[in-house]
Amino acid sequence: MTERTLVLVKPDGVSRGLVGEVITRLERKGLRLVAAELRTLDRETAETHYAEHRERPFFADLVEFITGGPLMALVVEGPRAIEAFRALAGATDPVKAGPGTIRGDFALEVQNNIVHGSDSPESAAREVRLFFPDLG
Ligand code: PPS
Repeated sequence: MTERTLVLVKPDGVSRGLVGEVITRLERKGLRLVAAELRTLDRETAETHYAEHRERPFFADLVEFITGGPLMALVVEGPRAIEAFRALAGATDPVKAGPGTIRGDFALEVQNNIVHGSDSPESAAREVRLFFPDLG
């Protein structure tokens, strides 16, 4: 079953020149790019995107970080795309992410962990709509 997911190359990934690396990895896996846009998030969009974490102690830092520079927003499509991309990304904590995963290979900190991928069909639908309202 074909599925869509939202992938973000976060500001740390963009500033480190890892956009091509992330896209190469997901395309090599067989996922297909449906939309892509380099943009800097405003605070309201960032707070909406991370609304489920609003009560967490790191929320303010997370919003500051994600709005702190341009990110690359991607919509990616393929069979079980949500799970497939999260496997490519590796664990949220990059120290625990296995070698060969994006976070395992390129990051050390839970905030500066290079990429975001939707974690469920409901989140994917909400996040794709938030970033790309014109996508059917
Ligand atoms: S959850 O609900 O426990 O699974 O949340 P988690 O996936 O661990 O993290 C959700 C997002 O919050 C970011 N995060 C943090 N940012 C800053 N500081 C700390 N301590 C921290 N812990 C988690 C993490 O990078 C996740 O971002 P996304 O974009 O969802 O991957």
